[in-house]
Amino acid sequence: MSADRQRIEAFCARFGLRVPILLAPMAGASAPGLSIAIASAGGLGACGVLLMQPDEITGWANQVRGASNGAFQLNIWIPDPPPARDAGHEAQVRAFLGAWGPPVPPEAGDATTPDFAAQCEAMLAAAPPIVSSVMGLYPPDFVSRLKQRGIAWFANVSTVAEARAAEAAGADVVVAQGAEAGGHRGCFDAALAEQQLVGLFALLPAVVDAVKLPVVATGGIADERGVAAALMLGASAAQIGTGFLRSPEAKLHPAWAEAIGRTAPEDTVVSRAFSGRAGRSIATDYVRAALAPEAPRPAPYPVQRGLTAAMRAAAQKAGDVERMQVWAGQSARLARADPAAERLQQIWRGAQALLGW
Ligand SMILES: Cc1cc2nc3c(=O)[nH]c(=O)nc-3n(C[C@H](O)[C@H](O)[C@H](O)COP(=O)(O)O)c2cc1C
Repeated sequence: MSADRQRIEAFCARFGLRVPILLAPMAGASAPGLSIAIASAGGLGACGVLLMQPDEITGWANQVRGASNGAFQLNIWIPDPPPARDAGHEAQVRAFLGAWGPPVPPEAGDATTPDFAAQCEAMLAAAPPIVSSVMGLYPPDFVSRLKQRGIAWFANVSTVAEARAAEAAGADVVVAQGAEAGGHRGCFDAALAEQQLVGLFALLPAVVDAVKLPVVATGGIADERGVAAALMLGASAAQIGTGFLRSPEAKLHPAWAEAIGRTAPEDTVVSRAFSGRAGRSIATDYVRAALAPEAPRPAPYPVQRGLTAAMRAAAQKAGDVERMQVWAGQSARLARADPAAERLQQIWRGAQALLGW
């Protein structure tokens, strides 16, 4: 058996998978049914718990475990320091956003996220086989508690330096996120997100060479060609986000799902327009306007998320994709509207054929 195949089969055996394909954790787009379908078909399910209260995390884990083999990861953002507030600047952003949605009151910028420590406790109590991090690393005491419970830590990284830091901090697996990826960029240093846009074809072999840990590849992988290429570049598994968002189990807003299906690689863009953290979305009218030189720069995370909430809600209600928060990776157009288990099998069978297995 080839060294590549041995590496991939060892990864699958270690994490109880029949298929080396992981659903990407996607906060706000982690419908339990999607993970149930993927895990039941031999892959790994996932939940991005960023916006979930502890009882919601517990409920999600119970539901997915109750209807599948329990192969899933829970994922959270490592929080940034509290944002610096600037009332004058926020007033400019509110005025700008008022042209795209309802008027934005000053207190909209006070938005907060759920309590990180309480979310971490809920993840530990849910005892998934895997917990993952993004935007930074877990503190040593939490890493010890994961290890005591036999929970593996998958650390999302977007540079070689981040991969080395994750290995040194005790991660079990690194997930190399190429700049093609949909959603927020996983950079540890938020300020560097736009400068360190490393594509997966360059990032993956560099990370594989830099660390001894198994490496999962993610970002722009959405069909059998991407999976086969990632495995040949040294990955032990491939992780797919946008590529599963059109499956019915994802329960995405129909306007978002439809837009993914017609988005070319050059029609996505990285901006801070929705949350204040850099993320890749479809280059809609709102995003293009927010990126224009005359637009006020977005407020920091999570202030901008609060300021855009009313516009996002109104757009969602109206099904107006030009103002909705439509995250998408550069391979969006490869996503199919097939049931997730069927799509997973198609992709894996196709990848095996390309690999000559
Ligand atoms: C809607 C959406 C939400 C996301 N939320 C998270 C998240 O909460 N945590 C995380 O680590 N990555 C998140 N990501 C990034 C994915 O985990 C993954 O890196 C990305 O989807 C891979 O690129 P692809 O979309 O081209 O497959 C999100 C991506 C999308 C599309």
